[in-house]
This record gives sequence, structure tokens and C-alpha cells, in this order.
Amino acid sequence: RIPLWLDCDPGHDDAYALLLACHDPRVELLGVSTVHGNASLDQTTLNARALLEAIGKREIKVYSGHSKPIVRNAVSAADIHGESGLDGVTLLPKPVEPAVKDVDVLDAMYKTLIATPPNSAWLVSTGTLTNIGLLFQKYDDLAGHLKGVSIMGGAVGGGFTDAPMGKTKLEGERFGNRTPYAEFNVDPEASHIIFSHPVLKSKTTIIPLDLSHQVLGTKEVQHTLLYGSDAPLDPSSAETSRTPSRVRALFKEIMVFFASTYAEVFSITKGPPLHDPLAVAAAIYPEIFDDRGGERFQVDIVTGGVHSDIPEEVGELGRTKVTKLPPGEGGCRIPRGVDLAKFWGSIEDCLKRADEA
Ligand code: BDR
Ligand code: CA
Repeated sequence: RIPLWLDCDPGHDDAYALLLACHDPRVELLGVSTVHGNASLDQTTLNARALLEAIGKREIKVYSGHSKPIVRNAVSAADIHGESGLDGVTLLPKPVEPAVKDVDVLDAMYKTLIATPPNSAWLVSTGTLTNIGLLFQKYDDLAGHLKGVSIMGGAVGGGFTDAPMGKTKLEGERFGNRTPYAEFNVDPEASHIIFSHPVLKSKTTIIPLDLSHQVLGTKEVQHTLLYGSDAPLDPSSAETSRTPSRVRALFKEIMVFFASTYAEVFSITKGPPLHDPLAVAAAIYPEIFDDRGGERFQVDIVTGGVHSDIPEEVGELGRTKVTKLPPGEGGCRIPRGVDLAKFWGSIEDCLKRADEA
């Protein structure tokens, strides 16, 4: 099985990342760390513990990480995830196990990952990139040891995608969700450490908004989450014949709240983009992602300064800049598409296993 560490900030979509990391048969989940992001660090840590309890994985350890970006102030995503990071969710149990205390999160991540066979383990990030950046700053040799790093983060835009998020006030395309250009998880200085690391950059897969916005939790998806993929799509017949399990009802509830805020804040009404589990899937099922025959990119994150192609007043901090590399040159993998049936199928399989746990 693939040894995997998940760094997250639950978070409605992080909940699905946890589900995959815990219940996919290809994965051996080594540990979970939390980071500031969708809500405060205390809250994301509590949410991670509660989610593990809900999906029958109480034994997985949770380490509380960094509470703010490397040089900036923490900003939460209460408009999308609510103050608690998991608003709108009534079916979450109270965690029985506490988070690990008095252990440095970076040391725990390093010690666990370096103990795996060389070139076998994946580090998956679905939260703000602060812990990950600091980890590779502190432990430079870890990059060479890992098989890969998979990150939900960044927003490419600019011809990379046919599906920009909308228009900026300045009539340009909007690529980001935090600002017109920046995606929420990109702590600029932490991201810079990662994408300028000479070894890491060719071992990293990025799931940017350009891809995650193709994976929407539509009404049909929500129905299947609740009743299972073998249930008839006619809601009335499924409702009368099946009582959804508690885990299925919880994950449906999570998706419904997420859908409501995406409709309200971004006017995306077909269903919310399920960003985070894609980063887990990219580590365990790379073959279901389309990278156009092996495209690789150099990635730079804007940490300051001015770039001439964008009006200064828009603010480019945190923008993802990508350059396609010539074939054979090592760089980040940024898939452009995913096999939706296979992706949702893996979620469905994990729900089945969680039901049995
Ligand atoms: C990312 O930001 C967070 O709000 C989500 O959980 C996801 O990790 C999407 O931009
Ligand atoms: Ca997240």
C-alpha cells in the first residue's frame, strides 16, 4: 500500500480528502496534520478529529500544525465553510481521542515519512501550504526520499483552462478564489519554498482550481452519495426503499452546505467544486488524470513585486505563474482533466468501506 501523510484544514472538501485517505484500499494513512486555513487551527484540528471519529478511524493520529502563514496574518474562509470550518453539519460526533500534544508537527511528519522505504511515500496537502513549506525548509533531505507531493492549490488560468471563474472588475478573467489571481491555499512564502526546491519541484503534482472546478458535487452526485451508486436515480423510489447510513447522511450534509455557499459567494449553482480529494486521488490514482501525455511545468508563486501583464491595483500576491517545460525536463505535473466516473467511483467505494468500519 502507498504510505501517505495528509496535511489538511477541514473544511467541507477536506472531509472528502480524509475519507479517501482513510478508506481507499491502496493507502496506508500514516498520520494527519492540521493547519490554519478554512478556520482557526484549533477548529480545523477539532474537525479533523471529529471526522476521523465519524468514519471509523479513531486510531489515526492528528498533529496540530501552524496557526498562521509564514509572514502574513491568518485569513479564514468563513464565507465558504462557516466560522467552525464545517458549518451546516449536524451529524458530526464529538471526538473521543484528543490531538497529539507536545510534539512538534514538523518533527512528527519528518520522522514518520523518513522511516518509509525510499521513493514510496506521498505527502498530500489540502490545506494552506504553511506546514508543508516549513517542513521542507527545515528538512531539506525529505524531498529526495519521498515518492511525491500532491497539493491542492493554485489557480493557473490564462489560457490553461476553458473555465475561468468569472470576470474581474478590471475585465480580465478571474482565476483565483481568494483574490482574482490567488487561490486560497497558497501561503505565498510557503509556496515559494516548495516550488523553488530543486528536488521537490519535479516530484510535485498540483491540483489547481482549473481542474477542481471540473469536479462538481451536482444534485446527481449528492443523490448517489446518500443512497449509493446502485440506487435508482429517481429520488422518490430510493427514499422509500433505503435508509441512508449515518456516514452517507453526514457526507451528503457536508456537500449540501458547501453547495449553498458556492452558489451564494461564487454564483456556481451546478454544485460545489470538490477540490481536496483530488489531491489524494492524484497520489493514488495518477492514471485517471490527464496530463496531456506528460506535460510538466515550472511554477512560480508571486510573493511581491509587480508583473507587467496585470494591472498593479488588482494585487497579484499569491498568483500561480506557470511555464510549460520542454519534454523530458523535470517540473510539476498539473493535470488538466480527470476521469470523473472513476473519481466519483473511488469516493463511492470509500463510503461503502466507511459504512462497514
Ligand atoms: C481550497 O481552499 C479551501 O477553502 C478548500 O478546502 C480547498 O482546500 C480551495 O481553494
Ligand atoms: Ca482545504
